[in-house]
Amino acid sequence: MTKTLEEVPFDLSGKALDTTLGALQGWLPPLIGVALRLKQAHWNLHGLRFKSVHEQLDEILADVRAAVDDVAERIVTLGGAADGLPATVAEHAVFDTFPAGRLGVENAIEIVCDDLARVVQHGRKAIEKLGGQDPISEDLAIGIVGALEKHHWMLRSQREL
Ligand SMILES: [Fe+2]
Repeated sequence: MTKTLEEVPFDLSGKALDTTLGALQGWLPPLIGVALRLKQAHWNLHGLRFKSVHEQLDEILADVRAAVDDVAERIVTLGGAADGLPATVAEHAVFDTFPAGRLGVENAIEIVCDDLARVVQHGRKAIEKLGGQDPISEDLAIGIVGALEKHHWMLRSQREL
């Protein structure tokens, strides 16, 4: 059982708490990884529609960073400790290789769509684990996944037909 660092004002302990903390912590590295890759794409983007996609990537990033903060702080709210260290992210966030150098707009859209799909899948798995354990964490995860899915739609709609 996870040892909490302090008393919390709700009745969540034992397996339910462990499951909740595990689901939230398991999602944190992929979310941080997507944030890093979004900036990489934002910086190195090149080609037609540069400005709109460059700005769109930062809009997505703002929501991903907020999600990282919310998930990490939910872990601590529940009495756990969040781990967003580089080594943890490197070990637990698995992504396809990111091409070095400048990045064409269409390629960037493909990469970021794949990344968002990956982190959405992580999030949906977290929601499944959180169901029946902690509705507040589940609600948080549902809100984040909904926003990420909308970003995926708005980005994939930029693809050429
Ligand atoms: Fe920028």
